[in-house]
Amino acid sequence: MKTSFRTDYCATFNETLEGNSITISGWCSSIRDHGGVIFIDLRDKSGIIQIVSDPNNSPEVHKTIETIRNEYVIQISGIVRLRTEGTINENLDTGKIEVLINSVEVLNSSVPLPFQIEEEINADENVRLRYRYLDLRRPNISNNFILKSKTMMITRNFFDKKGFVDIETPYLTKSSPEGARDYLVPSRVHQSSFFALPQSPQILKQILMTSGFDRYYQIVRCFRDEDLRADRQPEFTQIDMEMSFVNEDDVIEIIEELIIKIFKEIKGISLSSGFKRISYQESMDRFGNDRPDLRFGLELQTITDIFKNTDFKVFKGVIESEGVIKCIKVKDATMTRKNIDELTFFAQEQGAKGLAWIKVLDSELQSPILKFFSEEEISSLKSQLKLKVGDIIFFGAGDEEVVNNYMSAVRSKLGKDLGLIKSDSYEFVWITDFPLFLKIDNKVTSTHHPFTMPKHESIDEKNLTGIESKAYDIVLNGTEIGGGSIRIHKKDLQEKVFELLGISKDEYQENFGYLLNALESGTPPHGGLAIGLDRLMMYLTDSPSIRDIIAFPKTQKASCLLTEAPSKVFSDKQLTELGIKLLEED
Ligand code: AMO
Ligand code: AMP
Repeated sequence: MKTSFRTDYCATFNETLEGNSITISGWCSSIRDHGGVIFIDLRDKSGIIQIVSDPNNSPEVHKTIETIRNEYVIQISGIVRLRTEGTINENLDTGKIEVLINSVEVLNSSVPLPFQIEEEINADENVRLRYRYLDLRRPNISNNFILKSKTMMITRNFFDKKGFVDIETPYLTKSSPEGARDYLVPSRVHQSSFFALPQSPQILKQILMTSGFDRYYQIVRCFRDEDLRADRQPEFTQIDMEMSFVNEDDVIEIIEELIIKIFKEIKGISLSSGFKRISYQESMDRFGNDRPDLRFGLELQTITDIFKNTDFKVFKGVIESEGVIKCIKVKDATMTRKNIDELTFFAQEQGAKGLAWIKVLDSELQSPILKFFSEEEISSLKSQLKLKVGDIIFFGAGDEEVVNNYMSAVRSKLGKDLGLIKSDSYEFVWITDFPLFLKIDNKVTSTHHPFTMPKHESIDEKNLTGIESKAYDIVLNGTEIGGGSIRIHKKDLQEKVFELLGISKDEYQENFGYLLNALESGTPPHGGLAIGLDRLMMYLTDSPSIRDIIAFPKTQKASCLLTEAPSKVFSDKQLTELGIKLLEED
């Protein structure tokens, strides 16, 4: 791309331009002084080209080049020439050529940097985040943002062609519950009142359906004050969409089409349509969670029935307290006692009381608990689990939720440790038929959000956790990358759900009155979904951390090391205007 500073980007030149005079600009890296002749890798966003300064060519220019240090920004003009035999660099697009410098201008200098601008660096992540502008110079990091930009463009074109309208919803708004705490913004004009930053545009996108837009999408920032992990940020981006007059299949089909397009265009991978679908209950039974990693087997099996009349006190106690016994069979395992002890310790860290096991040897079974099992139990185990020599079975017994929780973690660990996970496979699965409500600490809460449509409009109030909903999640390799549902579009049903959630009439009128008004003003049946763009990008760029695909991310402690946000306000005046008085610090 020609500008007054360059003929084109550094990495666009090749041997066909031998003898041509060119001008290029960029950052200096890897400066090598070979007995008078100085070689520099000049880098810009396209890549690297080698430039050479020879004192015999121009002593004046050479004097300037001698003052140049790493990461100085320079503009040079020179002649493209072929590299001599033996100095060709096959790893570089420009590896067959170099540029003999005829003139140079130093555009800016640079202090010595805290780390080198290279793909592999040893710097602590906090240092990388403090100097994020340098970190983003590293091509492997900056490439993530080029791919993110392309993914957003593909998404916009896709939705545009399908008749979706891109509509902005406000960031200064009212609370939209998605299960996290809100970030609040005090209002100066309305003292003692606060805006909430949206956890998602959920309610407003539903209201756009009331308005008749029929198909909405937005690539939108969401804000959630929650505990952070490798795939969670307080501020993240959703590909958000909503459609009118649709059922679950309509939304699922369009999202699959988008994902297939993105994987094809960004990764060159052809996924087949008709992603697998597994109900929530089946997923919990087979994998112990609702975001199964289908890249490997090791499924959980429920064997409570085998031990109905057992004398083994651990299992007996569990059965008496209506718990479950589940197991994982590892085939052809070569696990030592030490491996088993480590796995047991891991399970205990995840809440297990123990992790009983049985090994199938050539002529016998081996296990510290074998002596407690009857002949009948052993033979049922052998036949139900189709045991073969070399197998090991791990048992988890206890409360169903607890067992599912740690056995799914044990499954993931085994999958990783035994090398069963292919790094280049992408296993998508839809999880469907979620329960409408969950009980957490005996309190009824929404599994997704309170606007989700129950499977049947008649609600059995005696069995709230047994009610299914029209919600679906899209899971990739064990990560939930998106979720959505068909929504409640009638006021009465919405009010009923609020009541079942223990929200008083006054409270839901105050918080959601505007939605209820819309629902009684001709809101059509509608549904949608939101994909976590950042999580999707982690897969598209093979990044282990969500921070690698957010340009200016927050740390695990929700602060920005570059800008040092959040920070104290400069003057008390600002707080006084907002009507805020800080509590005394200890
Ligand atoms: P949900 O809460 O499931 O649904 O969010 C949708 C997707 O957003 C991503 N996500 C996050 N990514 C990074 N950091 C976070 N803190 C974070 N939280 C969520 C996940 C998740 O699957 N309004 C509904 C969607 C709908 O019903 O249409 C919603 O927000 O990938
Ligand atoms: P204990 O009688 O507690 O020594 O346990 C005997 C065996 O059962 C040990 O191998 C424990 O690891 C295992 N174990 C104990 N509690 C459980 C449990 N809840 N689920 C599975 N295995 C267990």
